[in-house]
Amino acid sequence: MPDLMTLMEVGGPLAAVGGGAAYLRAEQPAAYWSMVGLPLSTARLLGSYTSVMDACGLTVAPSRLRALAVRATTRREVRAVPPRRGIIRPTSTGMRIRLRLAPGQEPADVAASAERLRHAWGVHAVYVSVVKPGVVELRLVGFDVLRKVRMPRKTSGGFLKVPVALREDATAFVRDYRAIPHQLTLGAPLSGKSMYLRHLIAGLAPQPVALVGIDCKRGVELAPFTARLSALATDPGQAAELLPVLVRLMEERYDLIKTRQGIARSTPDEEITSDIWGLPDAERPVPVVLFVDEVAELFLVATKKDEERRDEMVTHLIRLAQLGRAAGIYLEVCGQRFGAELGKGATMLRAQLTGRVCHRVNDEASAKMALGDIAPEAVGAACAIVPDRPGLAVAGDTSGGWTRIRTPYLSLADAATVCDTSAHLVPDLPTLEPFRPATQPHRPDLLTKLRPVTG
Ligand SMILES: Nc1ncnc2c1ncn2[C@@H]1O[C@H](COP(=O)(O)OP(=O)(O)OP(=O)(O)O)[C@@H](O)[C@H]1O
Ligand SMILES: [Mg+2]
Repeated sequence: MPDLMTLMEVGGPLAAVGGGAAYLRAEQPAAYWSMVGLPLSTARLLGSYTSVMDACGLTVAPSRLRALAVRATTRREVRAVPPRRGIIRPTSTGMRIRLRLAPGQEPADVAASAERLRHAWGVHAVYVSVVKPGVVELRLVGFDVLRKVRMPRKTSGGFLKVPVALREDATAFVRDYRAIPHQLTLGAPLSGKSMYLRHLIAGLAPQPVALVGIDCKRGVELAPFTARLSALATDPGQAAELLPVLVRLMEERYDLIKTRQGIARSTPDEEITSDIWGLPDAERPVPVVLFVDEVAELFLVATKKDEERRDEMVTHLIRLAQLGRAAGIYLEVCGQRFGAELGKGATMLRAQLTGRVCHRVNDEASAKMALGDIAPEAVGAACAIVPDRPGLAVAGDTSGGWTRIRTPYLSLADAATVCDTSAHLVPDLPTLEPFRPATQPHRPDLLTKLRPVTG
């Protein structure tokens, strides 16, 4: 009986601690990481650093001087030397550590061992980035940060930069319009494309930017944001009227830049500009971001009569994509598929859209449309996205690489509220005035009720 009591006294609390830890790990991975994962992984890393580096082939033979010094001062055998390690910097999702590469090593050598390092130190993933020549940073991620997305507190947002999603290495994925002017976002139904657009609209709404929407689903995706939109087209007919107006706006802006260059014949070279960003603040026109949801709708025609209108629209879109950047006009195009089968102009327009984000797709061909020209492994990764994680996507990187990203959940009501509160920021653009949607008072109660069930 006393044995049973002792067992209960010791085993009870132990079982409770174990159960608590398991619950924490499953439900609150960030808290689990801070309390349990971080100390364990740090201890593993410190205790096994040299042997793990050796096992991964990341050590080099010691210099002759070092070998002599070791032999002279100790009786130990002279061991191979791992890359010199900086201090461990813990973060809320993992930890960072800098390594100085040994002579003859390159960052790819460390990157090739990332999978082995993650197993050795018991973390979810290890990413390698180059800090400067000879120095790499290992970013150890403690848990799957894309399961429950929480954006980092410090993000590099700013004018025309929207931290829209979280990367798998726990850094923010920033949509930077000045670095990547136009983007294509593809994905199957319910994969999270409109959520991605919603984040961009909510992120741009408080900035001095004109937001223009073409939503051929009769406006169901973009209509809740009417308060902040400078123009909205909800069917291909309206889009056909809106697009030439945007092209004219772009041409006017080119004329403005040209006038400035004309005046400035005698002025120093650095004051001559070829885009709106070189104009003085007072003269610079406001940037325009054009959101197109379900782009294929603009390409599809039912009758021969519509064909002419379609060709015109596609030509206008291609011109905007080709010349818009310098005039401060940016495209954000969304669709389920965007291939050559949509007809004349589709591949040409796609080629102009530098940024690529591919959500879950139904077939490999769709993923290839978005990412095929970036990296074959990115196509494979997009095809592997499971339906129970809406918002998960593969994003092409400017560096030519790719990364998995996921948007946080943002309700339609919250995004609409951001638009309502920033309605006074709608810039004065008389040419777009006829397309300005009538603002209906937004009904958060209704939007909440209409919110679809999430996976
Ligand atoms: N990051 C996310 N986290 C949680 N739920 C999400 C996320 N992204 C999207 N969802 C949910 O997934 C569902 C589909 O999202 P969304 O409407 O953005 O898909 P879509 O690709 O635009 O679909 P469609 O092609 O039918 O318009 C919605 O219920 C949305 O709330
Ligand atoms: Mg949608």
